[in-house]
Amino acid sequence: MVSLSTSPLLPTIILLLPLLAFLIVPHFLPPPRVPISSVDELYDLSLFHNATTLHHHHHHHHPSNNLRSGSGSLQSPKIAFLFLTNSDLVFSPIWNLYFNVTNLSNAHLFNIYVHSDPTIKIKSLDGFFKNRVIKSRRTQRSSPTLISAARRLIASAILDDERNSYFALISQHCVPLHSFGFFYNTLFGDEAINKGFPSYIEVLDNETILWDRYNARGENVMLPEVGFNEFRVGSQFFVISRKHALKVIEDRKLWRKFKLPCLNVQSCYPEEHYFPTLLSMYDPKGCTNYTITRVNWTDSVDGHPHTYYPSDVSPELIYTLRESNFSTSYMFARKFSPDCLKPLLEIAESVIFKD
Ligand SMILES: *[C@@H]1O[C@H](CO)[C@@H](O)[C@H](O)[C@H]1NC(C)=O
Ligand SMILES: *[C@@H]1O[C@H](CO)[C@@H](O)[C@H](O)[C@H]1NC(C)=O
Ligand SMILES: *[C@@H]1O[C@H](CO)[C@@H](O)[C@H](O)[C@H]1NC(C)=O
Ligand SMILES: *[C@@H]1O[C@H](CO)[C@@H](O)[C@H](O)[C@H]1NC(C)=O
Ligand SMILES: *[C@@H]1O[C@H](CO)[C@@H](O)[C@H](O)[C@H]1NC(C)=O
Ligand SMILES: *[C@@H]1O[C@H](CO)[C@@H](O)[C@H](O)[C@H]1NC(C)=O
Ligand SMILES: *[C@@H]1O[C@H](CO)[C@@H](O)[C@H](O)[C@H]1NC(C)=O
Repeated sequence: MVSLSTSPLLPTIILLLPLLAFLIVPHFLPPPRVPISSVDELYDLSLFHNATTLHHHHHHHHPSNNLRSGSGSLQSPKIAFLFLTNSDLVFSPIWNLYFNVTNLSNAHLFNIYVHSDPTIKIKSLDGFFKNRVIKSRRTQRSSPTLISAARRLIASAILDDERNSYFALISQHCVPLHSFGFFYNTLFGDEAINKGFPSYIEVLDNETILWDRYNARGENVMLPEVGFNEFRVGSQFFVISRKHALKVIEDRKLWRKFKLPCLNVQSCYPEEHYFPTLLSMYDPKGCTNYTITRVNWTDSVDGHPHTYYPSDVSPELIYTLRESNFSTSYMFARKFSPDCLKPLLEIAESVIFKD
């Protein structure tokens, strides 16, 4: 009978086990998920409740709206820019120029809100970004924390200014492709009136990935709230109307499902599904079904889009990125590497803000 301990191979394997485990395990274990604590959840509920209550209060007292999107005021509507970041806002100098509109009759037609992951220390913000950081929580890619962060931004903007009529979600890797005035006229001009002030949100339903994404939390887990035929996908970067922004922070039903952790992390991008699914269930005709934030998915690696580097930056690139197959030109583009700041600043006034 052969004793195990006499086998020369076994001690070697036992000695190597920790090393093998170290080499193999990290490739199979998903990164630890950031949980949403019940304290955070209660805070958000209170914030969303306060925002919707305030809106309905204003709405009641000022029923004569100048916008069907639900602004409760006769003064010029504003755009709320919602910056979602977990690193330095490296392009803030370009945005500071973008917002420095001195030739519009009422230049103060926007508000800025920043959600910045508090576990990451970012460089202090200046210009129009000074003191614009809202109470933020940890965020993590491919997790419901990104949905929470966007909803927190929306609620903060609704609470802050009843004139906020459109809500544009922007990432730290986004840059503008047109002037602020051009964007403003696109959202509120005559053409927008004819379109009924839609939300510019991508809503796709024929993507091959949808089945795996739908079942990422387990088979049939999304039922009964969301049937597979109601499940949608689209870019997280949207520009939505006040009416739809309110729907997003009023929702409890879909959030109960979308906040669940994924079993299949490879198919877990809740932030790309929650908003298009919710708004297409609620008001499909009110959604353009396309986004006005340009992104290049050609040769994407690990779910990251193509990144533009300084040598790519040119007037031609800006003109190309503006071109769309929809009735609205692209207003923003991502992703740009941080060192694109200088070449982009050089063409800001002469190209980017010349519409
Ligand atoms: C909501 O309003 C209540 C009453 O004014 C206040 O006590 C609470 O702190 C507010 N919640 C948030 C998250 O700001
Ligand atoms: C806006 O532009 C004016 C004039 O160029 C400048 O003095 C001011 O500092 C700018 N404001 C911001 C916030 O960048
Ligand atoms: C004023 O802004 C408009 C766009 O809103 C632009 O077409 C025009 O060139 C600007 N004028 C000056 C003097 O900057
Ligand atoms: C998906 O739908 C879009 C818009 O209707 C269409 O352009 C595209 O060809 C469709 N893709 C597939 C794979 O069916
Ligand atoms: C967006 O797509 C939905 C569902 O396909 C459709 O009902 C709606 O009319 C579309 N929106 C526009 C503005 O065409
Ligand atoms: C998109 O990215 C690919 C490479 O990934 C590049 O060849 C192409 O020029 C880019 N398209 C645009 C419009 O920038
Ligand atoms: C517009 O559609 C054409 C034909 O499908 C396509 O080749 C082109 O890349 C599209 N342009 C943009 C900006 O998406």
